[in-house]
Amino acid sequence: MSDTTAIPQPALHALEQFPIVFSGNVEYAEMQGMAWAPGRVNLIGEHTDYNDGFVLPIAVDRVTAFAGRGRREDVVRLWSSHYKEYAQFSLEGLPTTFARQREDLPGWARYVLGVVTELMSVGVTLAGFDAVIAGDVPLGGGMSSSAALEVATAEACALFSRGAFTIGSERATLAPMQVAAACQRAEQIASGVRCGILDQAASCLGRPGKAVLLDCRSLDYRYLPFEAPNLSLVVIDTGVRRELASSEYNVRRKECEDAVTLWREIILQHESGNEAARSITALRDITQEEFDRYGRHLPEPLRRRAGYVIAENARVLQTGKLLETDSFVEIGKLLWLSHAGLRDEYEVSCSELDALVMIAKQVEGVLGARMLGGGFGGCTVNLVYSEAVKSLRQAVEREYPRRSGRQASIDICRAAGGPGNVCVR
Ligand code: GLA
Repeated sequence: MSDTTAIPQPALHALEQFPIVFSGNVEYAEMQGMAWAPGRVNLIGEHTDYNDGFVLPIAVDRVTAFAGRGRREDVVRLWSSHYKEYAQFSLEGLPTTFARQREDLPGWARYVLGVVTELMSVGVTLAGFDAVIAGDVPLGGGMSSSAALEVATAEACALFSRGAFTIGSERATLAPMQVAAACQRAEQIASGVRCGILDQAASCLGRPGKAVLLDCRSLDYRYLPFEAPNLSLVVIDTGVRRELASSEYNVRRKECEDAVTLWREIILQHESGNEAARSITALRDITQEEFDRYGRHLPEPLRRRAGYVIAENARVLQTGKLLETDSFVEIGKLLWLSHAGLRDEYEVSCSELDALVMIAKQVEGVLGARMLGGGFGGCTVNLVYSEAVKSLRQAVEREYPRRSGRQASIDICRAAGGPGNVCVR
């Protein structure tokens, strides 16, 4: 290991911990190394991914990292330096033994088991390993710590498989989006949340200075510049984590599916000859104009849910265009609108998130802000002139405890690279 400048700090931290945590009588294979993957901020396009819509995430300079060593037995042993906890599972019998093994694992390790299971399900050959996991993505806070853990697991598996499988764009066993899809399924089986592909794709596709415009139906994606020297991407954590988040997430997803089923019937009732209505399979397929015409026939709350998703998809595409011309002031306006929709129509915000957005709105130099990720707690994302970051910080420190009885933490993120791994000799 010669140049360590490109290796994220948590990976080096995990590497330092490894010999302390895993000492003893293990017969290790040759392969020793580190693997990591980033968390993400989603600039805009919330709850659109599972509606076959568009998202515009940015991988950030916060990662989850593994440092470890390949083993001769088919066993994975892990130490979480955050939870100060061990976990262990066997590769033997997977994917069949997934459900049984999952029950014996702490929450964080279920994501690792999930990824290993999904990789084996697509026919990849894996080897056992021991590893320390460390990271600096805020946990459960809307920056996709679980996706970072999943994608880092895939990278670690590639590293310790001793070349049996590779991840990359050309001649690799798995392309980045195939890894993202496997990690998305892993998240679903590990957590029971019917998540979309946003978080895992954002982590897999990260590039310094870029946002990614992803079509969640075709899985086509395009990089857009996200580099403005005078702007900062500020993430503010409410400090709130609500259990409700996963159950309500699945409820929203079901509401969207129900809205689509009803929509087909509504169109056929009003336009009996409209055969195209039969091919509507997701809210993505409904235009704003059609919604304006027939939306009132949907019962509440389905009308509001669908209305939000349709408008949000349009905002994502508009943001994509605005990024091409660095029109950040206009993008900021769309962020406020996105938050209002998530709060009033999609109803996934909470008083703490709303308070942070309101505080940000009163600070000069904040171009836009909105809640980030699934909702019901977690973080807001703020697009801010760098010279105004200090005023925003002061306003949050002054106002947020008064309004919420809590402290918020503030983080400045940069658009950073995707997953990586490196061997240590
Ligand atoms: C969570 C899910 C994503 C996405 C967002 C909301 O982060 O994992 O798939 O649906 O919520 O945009």
